[in-house]
Amino acid sequence: EPVRHRVQNRSTDAPHPQPNGVGVDEGFANEPDTDPSLPANRAWGREILRSAADASVFAAGDAALAAAAVRDAGALERMMADARGSASAWAAAGADHRATVLHAAGRVLAERRAELLAVMTAEAGKTLAEGDPEVSEAIDFAHYYAESARSLADVADAQFDPVRLTVVAPPWNFPVAIPAGSVLAALAAGSAVIIKPAPQVRRCAAVMVEALWAAGVPREVLHLVDVPENELGRQLISHPAVDRVVLTGAFETAALFRSWRPDLPILAETSGKNAIIVTASADYDLAAADIAKSAFGHAGQKCSAASLAILVGSVADSARFERQLLDAVTTMKVGWPTDPVSVVGPLIEPASGKLLRALTQLEGDESWLVQPRALDGSGRLWSPGVKRWVAPGSEAHMTEFFGPVLGLMRARTLEEAIELQNATPFGLTAGIHSLDADEVGQWVDTVEAGNLYVNRGITGAIVRRQPFGGWKRSSVGGSTKAGGPSYVFGFGTWKPVAREP
Ligand code: ALA
Repeated sequence: EPVRHRVQNRSTDAPHPQPNGVGVDEGFANEPDTDPSLPANRAWGREILRSAADASVFAAGDAALAAAAVRDAGALERMMADARGSASAWAAAGADHRATVLHAAGRVLAERRAELLAVMTAEAGKTLAEGDPEVSEAIDFAHYYAESARSLADVADAQFDPVRLTVVAPPWNFPVAIPAGSVLAALAAGSAVIIKPAPQVRRCAAVMVEALWAAGVPREVLHLVDVPENELGRQLISHPAVDRVVLTGAFETAALFRSWRPDLPILAETSGKNAIIVTASADYDLAAADIAKSAFGHAGQKCSAASLAILVGSVADSARFERQLLDAVTTMKVGWPTDPVSVVGPLIEPASGKLLRALTQLEGDESWLVQPRALDGSGRLWSPGVKRWVAPGSEAHMTEFFGPVLGLMRARTLEEAIELQNATPFGLTAGIHSLDADEVGQWVDTVEAGNLYVNRGITGAIVRRQPFGGWKRSSVGGSTKAGGPSYVFGFGTWKPVAREP
């Protein structure tokens, strides 16, 4: 069993304040990641990589997947009626009961960390360094939302009525944490849940769902549904009996869902085009390292990833900054995730469309600081690319590529840098590297993004510490924050009860 240190890496930021006064601080602590510097943990990791390379890993989740196949509209209707029918009993069982089951889910997910990691490595192409914190995050969601459930019952003179049926449509890039978080929040509120996994990572979802069932989430309350993304998929999402759809994916997908059902009650995290500003007062070494990690972790396939770095004034002409960035980027080892030295893993699918264009072409006066290369014939393994100088309004400024390519922009002043950062249609994460408190204050006041990061990387939000969610085109259906104090409230209605004695 791997060794864990509870405070590891997780105490650098103050806990997020609890704006609505419903606190879940007591009794919650973030799950520690696995420390790879310990020899015992490395041996444990090697064993996981061995099982990820074995064909038998593709039998994981078979039982859940076999039950998940829904082939026609009649079967879909029956399954939805089942789920909706089970919701009242789950809600009536009470918040304390749901909290107990969710805490048990956190424990089972923790016990199955190795199994989850093996499937994530094999199916989703995640390195252990990327996958391990994702399992911690799923465990955190279970314990955090369990306490959120308890807090629902604690509010005096108000009753919370959960929605009955939630459909979860998660992405492929965080194949455990994001589906787990969405499912667990809806379950905490008292809703029945149907999860339709992303087709690329069905097994990851199946193993996660099996863990929740094993923890005591009733099967009739949580359904895994493997429908094709055709007419049946449309029927599932747009069905009038669905009270909430939780989508994490492209903005266009949210728009498509809404075109199917204009009054769709949707909570969606959608797309980002995130930038880190570096000012002349920054620690250049730290800035370069954080930019490289935020841009190329999981090969840039994160909605939170840095895809632009905006260099203010003299930073753009600094030989030192350039050297440090070059060093940080070109030393990242690219390879398949079953190789323990890989830092940048594969794309989920061979690069195509706008991503292939971004990896192989330049616009206008752009030039390569680091030219990306396809490392084999798979189309999935690319060395990181850095292009400069991305022009305001260009495709590289405005478009999410979702891959290992970073654009550098120059700005004369901090104001201009913030304007460039805010000019995209999105507003998910944003970063600044500056050791000047006035600059940071000005930035915090004017930047338009859901999650702000100062002098650090901009990915890897931690439950409770960085409640996560965007604005503008990065969020549809209200700016709710996953892993924050009010997320579970999005799955129901408060009824304040005013009485005279
Ligand atoms: N929550 C994920 C992150 O912060 C997307 O990177």
